[in-house]
Amino acid sequence: MKIGVVTSGGDAPGMNAAIRALVRYAFTQGFSILGIERGYAGLISNLIVPLDPRSVGNILHSGGTFLRSSRCPEIRTPEGLAKAAQTLKTNSVDALVVIGGDGSFRGALEIRRVSGIPCIGIPATIDNDVYGTDETIGFDTAVNTAVEAIDRIRDTALSHERVFFVEVMGRNRGFLALHVGICVGAGVILLPEIPAQMNEVCRKLKSFEERGKATSIIVAAEGVGNTMEIAAACEKSTGFEVRYSKLGYIQRGGSPTARSRLLADLFANEAVQLLLTGAQDKMVGVQGGHLVATSLGEAVGREKPLDMKLYRLAEELAV
Ligand code: F6P
Repeated sequence: MKIGVVTSGGDAPGMNAAIRALVRYAFTQGFSILGIERGYAGLISNLIVPLDPRSVGNILHSGGTFLRSSRCPEIRTPEGLAKAAQTLKTNSVDALVVIGGDGSFRGALEIRRVSGIPCIGIPATIDNDVYGTDETIGFDTAVNTAVEAIDRIRDTALSHERVFFVEVMGRNRGFLALHVGICVGAGVILLPEIPAQMNEVCRKLKSFEERGKATSIIVAAEGVGNTMEIAAACEKSTGFEVRYSKLGYIQRGGSPTARSRLLADLFANEAVQLLLTGAQDKMVGVQGGHLVATSLGEAVGREKPLDMKLYRLAEELAV
């Protein structure tokens, strides 16, 4: 049996660890493995490389994806899907493993429908916004990267007694912002899921000052809107010295944490196990510390809930 593996969408630290574990475990089970380069764009244009245990040596610790990735709108068209299915047929691929996020799994479902071959998803995105798993590969690394950066910002915030608005990634969802916010002791966490009133944010900052806080950090998810404008409006309204900092793509890169690597190993192992038991369209995940499988349809069709207990705790700790 021949397995194709593709990394798709935004890269996430630990994707390489997942490719390595997948190739090596699949090899021990007698599979041969083909790597598909440049995400679904490479699947459409037949960019295939054979992989073996040696070809995935020394990539475990590196961020990004050595197979490379892309955002590929063409995979949403009938023509693109037909070309992808043709590539799988030409290379005699019996099953496809997709390492990526929600958008990539939508593509996987369509590829499965058109090609008829089994497709297994391994969730990897710094956004952690995939239903069916408590955590995605790369999330823990991005949280740690952002926390380290914001700890540095706190040094200067304290020295100058400033209010800092720090924007972290997360276009539609606030999982990263929430985790980072609680871990850096943010006074306020702004999330796309919980619309905040500007005057309420300013009122909180004033009350912090009255209680003797010399500085405050506000962590905002990218998806809440223009954080720079929000920061400027806050400065005008409160009279505090306010600064804005966007962490940007540094959150996507870097060596995966031990936790992201371990998750990658466990997910890859589970993906091969699922193929061995005849699974057709599953996504691997972890729930309550246990490995689970969710149908790809359910994973893309449902919205992962935000941990409101964590949000309330962050609020309670910001006294
Ligand atoms: O999905 C991961 C992510 O980094 C989001 O947080 C961000 O909004 C988006 O990707 C950026 O996408 P691109 O790499 O296409 O600029």
